Amino acid sequence: MLTKKLQDALNKQINREFFSEYLYLSMSAYLESIEMEGFANYFNIQAQEEHFHAMKMFNFVHDKGGRVILKPLGEPKANFKSVLEVIEEALEHERYITKSINELMDVAIKENDHSVKSFLEWYVDEQVEEEATMSKLIAKLKLINGEGLGLLTLDNELGQRKYTPEE
Ligand SMILES: [Fe+2]
Ligand SMILES: [Fe+2]
Repeated sequence: MLTKKLQDALNKQINREFFSEYLYLSMSAYLESIEMEGFANYFNIQAQEEHFHAMKMFNFVHDKGGRVILKPLGEPKANFKSVLEVIEEALEHERYITKSINELMDVAIKENDHSVKSFLEWYVDEQVEEEATMSKLIAKLKLINGEGLGLLTLDNELGQRKYTPEE
């Protein structure tokens, strides 16, 4: 069983993971609109990963005998100034998610639920990777001034990324 407090906190996080999926799809749509197909592919895959994050937690709540309650998703930002702005906002969003996961972990610790704590470790680790990937992309974009042949090459490289479902 989950305490009411912990169930509410997990439901809030499920909503945020689904919102992440929605936001990354919106970023992907913007990137398509400026012919950055590789970046669009990259964010499409990011969106699929966020769907997986949400569903992993969705299933866990039910495994714990809890109840998932879905709430409306916010409207994701649709327009950006540049590819760099997209990635910078993605990094900012991931930092917000990291904070949110940390707060969720704090609730699990307070409620003394060891299985939830163990479950959340995966998300804690995942966030390190998420922030690192976005930071590296920002560094690369700055290196090439976010334009020209460098941008096309990077776009081409990101177009190769494929979704590999996690276990
Ligand atoms: Fe996530
Ligand atoms: Fe993420």
